[in-house]
Amino acid sequence: MSAPPIPKAPAAIDRLPVTLPALAERKRLGEPIVMVTAYDFPSAQAAEAAGVDVVLVGDSGAMTVLGYPSTVPVSVDEMLVLARAVRRGLRTPLLVADLPFGSYEASDELAIATAQRFVKEAGVDGVKLEGAGVVAQRARALVQAGIPVMGHVGLTPQTATALGGYRAQGRTAERAHAVARDALELQEAGCFAIVFEAIPAAVAAVLMERMAVPVIGIGAGDATDGQVLVFHDLLGIREGVGARFVKRYADLQAEMTAGVRAYAEDVRARRYPEPDHTYSIDPGELRRFRELLAAG
Ligand code: KIV
Repeated sequence: MSAPPIPKAPAAIDRLPVTLPALAERKRLGEPIVMVTAYDFPSAQAAEAAGVDVVLVGDSGAMTVLGYPSTVPVSVDEMLVLARAVRRGLRTPLLVADLPFGSYEASDELAIATAQRFVKEAGVDGVKLEGAGVVAQRARALVQAGIPVMGHVGLTPQTATALGGYRAQGRTAERAHAVARDALELQEAGCFAIVFEAIPAAVAAVLMERMAVPVIGIGAGDATDGQVLVFHDLLGIREGVGARFVKRYADLQAEMTAGVRAYAEDVRARRYPEPDHTYSIDPGELRRFRELLAAG
């Protein structure tokens, strides 16, 4: 049985879809690559309208939209719901989805089967995996199976406990060397791009001399080929300060709360609904309705 076609948003008239060669070309030309996360139709539409290059259905969605305490519990099925909604709101950016914790590490076969679901059922262009070592082997297997892979080194939230918590990585020569080995291993495995998360800017800058594929930084300074931020962090849809690398461009959580509070106050004060918000009926029809009701 063939899968139903995956609808995409209407084509943007002035922009071509972003491809893997286009990303590589951006790196070659030194043009910064813009990546942002999205988890639903409206956030995808915002990313599309803003003209970003890459959209990541991050497993950060476990925390930002599903309310889990970390990225670890989110399931493949939950991530697929988010990815399909994003696909429907997107036309031009490259769409990448995180494979959730536990859905790819155990074997090449598992990684391929999971990634194929994201490609077939959600229409993603590629998948992202966290870490190296055995994960680099999974990345290689996926690339050989025809699925583009984005790597992720430094702070890898799926295994944050093993890294000593949500903290910057690579802050000693040996730890920086370990991050470098991971990145080079993923590059060698065929990843089309790699995320560097929470490593010293100077370490990223040195490492960039060895990186042939586009590197997208988050808390890794300005030497990387592009930057990524979590949608809810950059728009202030989360309470709290967030990581050091987060820059807030809006305070939507406060705006949303203010809007809902104003609505609640209007309802309680009987200021809403107003006549403009209601539907009318012909007086004769209303009279007849009363008669019908009275007659039982
Ligand atoms: O899940 C996510 O949002 C990520 C980005 C922070 C890169 O992995």
